[in-house]
Amino acid sequence: MNIEAFRGALLTWFDGNKRDMPWRRTKDPYGIWVSEVMLQQTRVDTVIPYYERFMTHYPTVEALAEAPEEAVLKDWEGLGYYRRARNLQRGARYVLENHSGRMPRDYEAIRKVPGIGDYTAGAILSIAYNLPVPAVDGNVVRVMARLTGTYWTAADKAPVRTALEPLMDRQRPGSFTESMMELGAVICTPKNPRCLACPVQRECQAFQLGIADELPVKVQK
Ligand code: ADE
Repeated sequence: MNIEAFRGALLTWFDGNKRDMPWRRTKDPYGIWVSEVMLQQTRVDTVIPYYERFMTHYPTVEALAEAPEEAVLKDWEGLGYYRRARNLQRGARYVLENHSGRMPRDYEAIRKVPGIGDYTAGAILSIAYNLPVPAVDGNVVRVMARLTGTYWTAADKAPVRTALEPLMDRQRPGSFTESMMELGAVICTPKNPRCLACPVQRECQAFQLGIADELPVKVQK
């Protein structure tokens, strides 16, 4: 892969094609955190109104940390997976107590926040703080498996992070992270990927080899 060509094509496509979403209008690390937690198991269209209301009711780490848990759970109703809401509030209380309400900027510190795993840490550090830390979820595993022609499964997040880190654009890590998610959502889809419309088709091993449909490997359940 030509890394410069890959970054350039991906970011140019993203700049011209990205969908508008409320969390794409902020660089507030707390807002990015809330959006990433909501998006973990829920579709974008469903998340948008919940995100807007949540950020109105709890605009800061401090507001969320100090809110009654019942109120937070009530606002989460309909999104499901209530453990995410409880963890988010636990995390906010930790950030308020240990970092005066400011989200940590470095990997070691942000990973200590309850509920923030590798994926969420990478998303916040890259999107909000523009640091070249990869954020790898199932969609990014699929995109990377195809790009590199590697038989990864959804469980192979660690090797995918290692492979992704050197590809990240150094000037625009946040846009790079979001462009990989966007590519996975609208072009490099699980079934029938739209390779003919793909901005990085020329850099894609799976396309060159005609094996995009076989990647990533499904784990037998
Ligand atoms: N899915 C997970 N994170 C996302 C983001 N920041 N934008 C769009 N879809 C996402």
